[in-house]
Amino acid sequence: MLERRTFLQAIGAAAALAGLVPGRELAAWEAAAPGLIERLVCAKDPPLPSEELFRRRPESYWAELRRQFVFRPGFLYLNNGTVGSCPLPVLRAFIESILHEEQMENEDTEQYPLWGYGLWDQYRRPMAEFIGARMEELALVRNATEGLNYVANGLDLRAGDEVLTTDEEHPSGLNPWLLKQKRYGIGVKQVTLPKPPQSKEQILNLLEEGCTERTRVVMVSHVTTTTGLVMPVREICAWARERGLLTLVDGAHAVGMLGVNVKEVGCDFYVSSPHKWLLAPKGCGLLYVRDEVCDLLWTTIATGEWDNRDIRAGRLQQFGSTNASILAGLVAAIRFWQALGPERIERRIRQLHAYLKERVARLPGAELHSAAGEEFTGGILAVNFPGLERMKLQQRLYEKHRIRIRGTSPTRLRLSTHIYHSFAELDRFVDALDDYLQTPAV
Ligand SMILES: Cc1ncc(COP(=O)(O)O)c(C=O)c1O
Repeated sequence: MLERRTFLQAIGAAAALAGLVPGRELAAWEAAAPGLIERLVCAKDPPLPSEELFRRRPESYWAELRRQFVFRPGFLYLNNGTVGSCPLPVLRAFIESILHEEQMENEDTEQYPLWGYGLWDQYRRPMAEFIGARMEELALVRNATEGLNYVANGLDLRAGDEVLTTDEEHPSGLNPWLLKQKRYGIGVKQVTLPKPPQSKEQILNLLEEGCTERTRVVMVSHVTTTTGLVMPVREICAWARERGLLTLVDGAHAVGMLGVNVKEVGCDFYVSSPHKWLLAPKGCGLLYVRDEVCDLLWTTIATGEWDNRDIRAGRLQQFGSTNASILAGLVAAIRFWQALGPERIERRIRQLHAYLKERVARLPGAELHSAAGEEFTGGILAVNFPGLERMKLQQRLYEKHRIRIRGTSPTRLRLSTHIYHSFAELDRFVDALDDYLQTPAV
């Protein structure tokens, strides 16, 4: 742990370097949120709220947890679906690692503040354990997009072979296959998911109908980007395995939102972006490759060890110089989760989601695109308002109410709930939305 003075001296430069606090904004930030910088730089983090407080007054527990975050008072962030906001212990681990690494004095003289050529087991091991994988089956990449491209690009498919997927995939999930289609003539078949689906069987039947004797790969999201649907990935992977198909699960949103165990999911490949729901620093991703299929996958980026089969999935994280400090933050995010309890976090996310859904559904014109049952939902709520100018609303909410949201179509909102929200804040959002819906031109 750095001395407070050293930390204070270094924070301006380091935080500016990390893009956290542009130096000239420090004073303005302090004025708007007194004590925030103190919390960020003081040698001790505020303690986590106690178990006793959780048992006695759970809402006070969550309110106190809010001290772990750097949001300014009065600002409400509801777009965790794009990226989350790191808690203080994560920021601290990240910044301290930058300060340490930039001194360039590693005792191991082959060590530099980059990773990209190493195996970095100290970062891979906790991440692998967190998702129930073996360390050798994990490659730490820079985001879900990169992991998805590694899989699509790295599998040998012939012209006419087919990939079966859905109409709710993110461009980072779908487009790597469309590239392969254009380049090599494979087929990409997207089944249209009901909005919302009524049962798991309904989804499995649609996939069954879309499957042909040319199908080789099934690719689905764990939590879809468009409607927040939690897909029955276990059932889908078991079904695909019976037919001898490879399975790729895009879990960009799932790690941190839901308890994810890749062995229980039973997929061949799983990717995620821990900078979303796990609240890790921006620019870290994971790619799980089940060991039994590891040798099927070519790497996409070739440098040292590109073809070293002995290091298993480790050969897929050989991509040149980058920033190891992000991974120090990733491990701190995992420790933060373990300290709070992943089940408790998931329950809170779902509890806030259910509350928001209930309130939003009563607004005039609201069409819920998120599914009804808990088995289909997590922390993303999709609601459509026919005729809404979503971009206008988005801008208005920020300018007038300092509320930040996003959507996934010109009329559909995608709202995320996470541990840094309170019921009162969700009420504030719904009231502001209601107000806008009644007088959109004002
Ligand atoms: C389902 C899904 N997959 C992949 C991605 C891409 O994530 P990233 O930009 O972190 O690579 C996103 C981003 O929102 C997503 O929603």
